[in-house]
Amino acid sequence: MKLFLDTGDVDEVRKAAEWGVIDGVTTNPTLIAKSGKGFRETVLKICDLVPGGAISAEVVATDYDTMLKEAMEIASWHEQIVVKVPLIEPGIRLVTSLAERGVRTNVTLVFTVSQALLAAKAGATFISNFVGRVDDVSGDGMEAVAATVDMVEAYGYESEVLVASVRHPQHVVQAVAARAHIATMPLGVMQQLFKHPLTDLGLKRFLDDWNKAGLSIFEPSGVA
Ligand code: G3P
Repeated sequence: MKLFLDTGDVDEVRKAAEWGVIDGVTTNPTLIAKSGKGFRETVLKICDLVPGGAISAEVVATDYDTMLKEAMEIASWHEQIVVKVPLIEPGIRLVTSLAERGVRTNVTLVFTVSQALLAAKAGATFISNFVGRVDDVSGDGMEAVAATVDMVEAYGYESEVLVASVRHPQHVVQAVAARAHIATMPLGVMQQLFKHPLTDLGLKRFLDDWNKAGLSIFEPSGVA
């Protein structure tokens, strides 16, 4: 499964990129506004920090003609950029047009398999199924993810299912079980993926025993 970082914060991208496990970054207008920096400069810095990674940058117009202008401008900034498009009628028309132009798209704000079907048929590169916002209103966000994975596989669509609006590591576990292609998440959630108390306890035990034995890796005798 590919892992994307969901952020507009360049420092967060720099930190996660050091681990060597992220395959891309997703931004959205809220995350870019939160960064306090310019849209183009932020997206280009992120492209440089994740070489070859898919970097999603979202249009903000809601009429087709302006969305198309915005999409072509954003796509022109860097070859790694994937144009993010909301699942609205002009958005699906835009995805179809961009697919014809060879421009990659990430269809966002998807909550149902029927919405995902429209995105897949339009030729979306990624379909962002939001899970956390459904859970936030007592729903089961992951339900639509599993149905979307089954749908793209059943009909042979090339779209990749991207689990978005991830709130905690269990969403990642569930995304794996649903055989989703990608999960995007905030840095804090990605950092939680590393954590287990038995890992911490086990490492402490290893190091305590090593130190008690007075051993050394760098001393020829093997003893500190
Ligand atoms: O960026 C798309 C999505 O991951 C945002 O989710 O619910 O945390 O704003 P949310």
